[in-house]
Amino acid sequence: MSNLSTKHLLGIKELTAADINLILNTADSFKEVINRPIKKVPSLRDITIANLFFENSTRTKLSFELAEKRLSADVINFSSSSSSVKKGETLIDTVNNILAMKVDMVVMRHPNPGAAVFLSKHVDAKIVNAGDGAHEHPTQALLDAFSINEKLGNIKGKKIVIVGDILHSRVALSNIFCLQKLGAEVMVCGPTTLIPKYIASLGVKVGHNLREALEWCDVANMLRIQLERQEIKYFPSLREYTMLYGLNKELLNSLSKKIIVMHPGPINRGVEITSDVADSDQSIILEQVENGVAVRMAVLFLLAGRV
Ligand code: CP
Repeated sequence: MSNLSTKHLLGIKELTAADINLILNTADSFKEVINRPIKKVPSLRDITIANLFFENSTRTKLSFELAEKRLSADVINFSSSSSSVKKGETLIDTVNNILAMKVDMVVMRHPNPGAAVFLSKHVDAKIVNAGDGAHEHPTQALLDAFSINEKLGNIKGKKIVIVGDILHSRVALSNIFCLQKLGAEVMVCGPTTLIPKYIASLGVKVGHNLREALEWCDVANMLRIQLERQEIKYFPSLREYTMLYGLNKELLNSLSKKIIVMHPGPINRGVEITSDVADSDQSIILEQVENGVAVRMAVLFLLAGRV
């Protein structure tokens, strides 16, 4: 198969396992490209891509921009904080004005769940969801899957635990869909208040004891506590959260096997993960970031249909 089954990338839920494997295999080729002395290919010449960020981002924004430039696309960047959104312009009006400048694809991060789906129904361009509220972050899950595959050789049958603030995490939901479609076993682990009640219905294990979860897994994906999305207190204090769910070197070294440690970033050093774990040889955090460029190149290339 050489084409995706979808026109847009709105979430992992809508992708087939074949779509995901096609993206990961294509990303393999692009990883080779970005490690060459000349890192650029002409694949998306004459394609114009708008990156619309209505919410803060470091990794995703820069990674998409670099992926687009490596593919020779023309790129325009929009940040809501310095735009006419501040004067009351709606999302649809903003995007239609940008599309009037002959834009082919839109990469959008938005604080509202469903914003990417909404846009795909109202504008005539290919939409890539770069994170919509606590809903999905599909390219993060794809780069996480690529990184696990690269490290372990396969995802099928592997055990991955996602630790922490599952309730507010688009990374958790996209990872659950992606890893399960690729045949992994998934557990979520955290305080009861940060694990949504519906999550077991997705077929994941639920745990509340970090040591037990780490002994079970091959890979631990440590999530950031998203204080900016929490309107009420979900645990007594950050100190208590760290004592129960923070990963430190002593705990990591005491496990019966060597596990891989991941984090989507940004890290709260000393909260969900200590610096000596984040910077250890068991951490693949910066490899995740490196792989993000290749994975996003693959997504953009496949959606553009230049196969
Ligand atoms: N992982 C991630 O989405 O990071 P940013 O918010 O910096 O893009």
